[in-house]
Amino acid sequence: MEVITEPTVNGTAARGHGLAGQDILSVSQFGPDSLSAVFELADEMRAVVRQKGGTDLLARRVLAALFYEPSTRTSASFIAAMQRLGGTVIPITQGVQFSSVSKGESLPDTIRTLEQYADVVVLRHPEVGSARVAAAAASVPVINAGDGPGEHPTQALLDLYTLQDELGTLDGLHIAMVGDLRFGRTVHSLTRLLRPYDVKLTFVSPEILRLPLDIMNEVRDAGLDVRETYNVAEIIGEVDVLYVTRVQKERFTDLEQYEELKGFYTITPELMAGARERMVVLHPLPRVGEISPAVDADPRAAYFRQVQNGMFVRMALLAAVLGKA
Ligand code: NCD
Repeated sequence: MEVITEPTVNGTAARGHGLAGQDILSVSQFGPDSLSAVFELADEMRAVVRQKGGTDLLARRVLAALFYEPSTRTSASFIAAMQRLGGTVIPITQGVQFSSVSKGESLPDTIRTLEQYADVVVLRHPEVGSARVAAAAASVPVINAGDGPGEHPTQALLDLYTLQDELGTLDGLHIAMVGDLRFGRTVHSLTRLLRPYDVKLTFVSPEILRLPLDIMNEVRDAGLDVRETYNVAEIIGEVDVLYVTRVQKERFTDLEQYEELKGFYTITPELMAGARERMVVLHPLPRVGEISPAVDADPRAAYFRQVQNGMFVRMALLAAVLGKA
């Protein structure tokens, strides 16, 4: 796609994120330097939203948001991000069942059509690898907003941004991921994104929902200190971050098994009483019982701040892929 070189949000030149004209398909595309560049830009987006509500950086640019799976946060977050950058959105979400997609149109054809209208496509789809298929068909940037149980790179970026924002650094953090580590794509992406950092990881899940072996091997090969347990009470006092996830009902063929697993963990004020004073609880949301609402008033509960950070990070990513930052 055409790369436009106009002033950025604060008038400085390009800064080494290397994202202009690129797809965002996997966290493997990002390293500490490009992440710092994206996070710096997200900080600027936050400042501009707080000062003026937004900017006109992406005026007359159009985003097509194609969601084949349910979404509240991710779709609303991309829509809000695009609008606060002065751009507009073609939302194809609730309506997928009323669109040509339901007539049996192939994903490449849908994408080739949408790119005639839009400058960037955001895609959520139930199949692993779908974002890659879409990107191969598209001449505009494609952003993966979740490909089945595969990856969810923009969520992992906003998770990392939130960690840094809340705790000031990533160095030396002990991070526990709790819940459905098998199907939770946000866990897959965040775990991979953390590979180059000096962090210790503890994976907390019932046996059947353990992290896939290939991802476990990737973090072990990267030299990280990794542990597994099923017992959250055992580790809550040692961690700086508790990253809690929902059991992914839609990935189960046996709903009885889902029913047995869904209440496996609940983070309660009683459990939090054993946690460090300086730590954070994150969750990509939606929650369906893994964190008691009674925890929300705890200053360590950062999951709604995490939601807002998502908009700033997505503003940064949209401006970056469209060559405006
Ligand atoms: C996550 C997802 O869709 O993978 N939600 C989100 O994007 N915020 C997590 C989930 O649905 O459990």
